[in-house]
Parts: sequence; C-alpha cells; structure tokens
Amino acid sequence: INTTLSRDEKLLAVCELLSNGIAYYNWVGFYFANHETQTLHLGPYVGAETDHTVIPFGKGICGQVAVSNANFVVPDVAAQDNYIACSFTVKSEIVVPLFVNGKNIGQIDIDSHVIDPFTEADERFLEFVNQEIAKLF
Ligand code: SME
Repeated sequence: INTTLSRDEKLLAVCELLSNGIAYYNWVGFYFANHETQTLHLGPYVGAETDHTVIPFGKGICGQVAVSNANFVVPDVAAQDNYIACSFTVKSEIVVPLFVNGKNIGQIDIDSHVIDPFTEADERFLEFVNQEIAKLF
C-alpha cells in the first residue's frame, strides 16, 4: 500500500481489498474505541451505509468485543440476542479486536450475506491484518 496515503486512506484500501477479494466479506469496516466515553466510533468502511456510527461498549457484537478483547464469530446473527442489526441481508458476522501495544483500540468488523462462512482461517488471517494495521498507530 502506497505510503503517501493517509492512515484512513490505507484503512479504506484494506476494506476495499478484503471486500473485493473475498466473496463472503460483504461489509468490511473498522470501529475505534474512545475509552473515556466507553463508545466505539465507525471508521473507514466499505458496504451499505449504517446508522450505527457510535456503539456503546457492551452493546451488540462490536460492543462486546470492546469489553472482551476476544474475537467474536457469529455464524447466524438470528441466534444472537445482543446483536445490532444493520441490514436484513446480513446473516453472519466476525469481529476481531485491534491491539496496539497490548491495548484494544478498536476492531475490524465483517458482515456476510451467507450463514456460517467464517472459519479459524478467517480469524488467523484477520488477526494478521490487524497486526499489520497496528503498525500504522
Ligand atoms: N452488527 C454489529 C453492528 C455494526 S454493523 O454490523 C456495521 C453489532 O452487532 O455490533
């Protein structure tokens, strides 16, 4: 990725590459944590526009990852009670936290239009992507 791009442009390029390259990655975006207000804030993303630009810690899949510091794979969003629906076309979701110097500063969030597409290979791959992104901070 061209180093003359700003950090947000690089993050957007990552979103575009992932959503164009992997058929079941239908919405790809980043949320960043504000630890003072205990809220997540939508960063660069590719896919349908979302109303959920600010998410309180603990709320939805994203909010739970802000607190747990662990990957969250949801094979079927209809089976989740603490879930924030963005679109009825979304069937599954994966959220992987982004650590900078050991601190959970945000996450990559991916929605899919198919049920149960995410494997451990996606988790390992997205952990690697986030480790590379952490170097931008
Ligand atoms: N489904 C997420 C909300 C964010 S949208 O997927 C973009 C959640 O439950 O946290």
